[in-house]
This record gives sequence, structure tokens and C-alpha cells, in this order.
Amino acid sequence: MTGPLKVETIPEAAIIPLASLWHDGWHEAHDHLVPSYDAATRSRGRFADRLRREHPSGRMVRLEDRPVGLCLTSGAEISQLFVDVTARRLGVGRVLLADVERHIALSGHDEASLTVVQGNDQARGFYERHGWRRDGLTTIEIKHGSRSAVLYLWRFAKTVMC
Ligand SMILES: CC(C)(COP(=O)(O)OP(=O)(O)OC[C@H]1O[C@@H](n2cnc3c(N)ncnc32)[C@H](O)[C@@H]1OP(=O)(O)O)[C@@H](O)C(=O)NCCC(=O)NCCS
Repeated sequence: MTGPLKVETIPEAAIIPLASLWHDGWHEAHDHLVPSYDAATRSRGRFADRLRREHPSGRMVRLEDRPVGLCLTSGAEISQLFVDVTARRLGVGRVLLADVERHIALSGHDEASLTVVQGNDQARGFYERHGWRRDGLTTIEIKHGSRSAVLYLWRFAKTVMC
């Protein structure tokens, strides 16, 4: 590594590489936990379209000029946090999480929240390591045509301060 990791806003030029990272990380973390017909709809293009809409409020980290980490929020909720598989355990997730917790506190919230698909133990371990507490289960319904399924999500919360 070449110096401290810096968190920055997401420029348009980073959308495609970050969408690719997000796509790969999403499938790695979720393909075994969600119905295959849902996973099949999660194309690179779908992640890129969402990132084009949401990147102005997102944050990223580069390593040697390559985008390697992505974080998106919605109000006091962390909606996405993904680190490239080649850049794991280097502190990228930690600096993104600290940055977004600070941002949520500065926006006037006392508590931040997030959800993790039940069974994503890698994410659970990471959030617990950083002081997040599990505070229940919630569900979402996944629908594709005539098929539907209920997915269980762990809810996490953490008190945040500026
Ligand atoms: C979870 C994830 C974001 C962690 O990112 P990362 O950059 O590898 O984590 P870091 O290197 O910043 O780790 C920071 C600390 O957390 C610890 N940690 C990282 N992953 C961990 C895990 N799976 N379990 C327990 N602790 C973990 C590290 O050991 C490190 O500890 P330290 O502060 O004592 O050094 C990353 O593994 C990832 O993108 N996973 C796949 C996608 C995913 O599941 N995202 C969440 C979807 S809700």
C-alpha cells in the first residue's frame, strides 16, 4: 500500500469499474442465499444503472488509482458496502464504514442502520467487529413474474457521533 487510504466522492469515470466490483461482490455474497431466479436478474448493467443514479451521494476508496471499495447510503441507512476481492483485509471496508458513520452523524442522526441477508456471515463478522449490534430480523418479498420468495434480513444498528 502507498500511504493512508482516502475516502472520496464517486466520479462518473469510476461508475463502470465500481459497478463491476459491486456485481462481483454481490454475487459472491448472495448467490447461495437468494433464489436463483433473483440472482439471474442482477446483471452488471443493472448495477451500473443504479450507480449512475446514486453515485452523487456515494463514497469510494482507490488503491493505486484503482477503485476498490464502494459505499452507498440512504438517510441513516448504509445500503451498500463492497470491497474488491483483491483488496480485502487491507482496511478499505473500515475506512469506508468510519466515513459513512461520521457522515450519518453529521446529517443529524443518532443511530445508523443497515441490513444483511441472513447467512452472510462475512458481513456479519465485519459489522460486529466494528461495534454494530444485531437488533432483529426483517423480511422482504422477492417477486419475479409468478414466482416469489420471502428473504430474511438481519437488521443491525449502531449509535453514531460526530
Ligand atoms: C465485509 C467487507 C466489506 C469487509 O471489507 P474489508 O476491506 O475486507 O475489511 P477491512 O480490511 O477494513 O477490515 C477491518 C477490520 O475488520 C475485520 N474484518 C474484516 N472482515 C471480517 C470478517 N469477515 N469477520 C470478522 N472481522 C472481519 C478485519 O480483520 C479488520 O480488523 P482490525 O481492525 O482488527 O484490523 C468485505 O469483505 C466485502 O466486501 N465482502 C463481500 C461483500 C459483502 O458481503 N458486503 C456486505 C453486504 S451487506
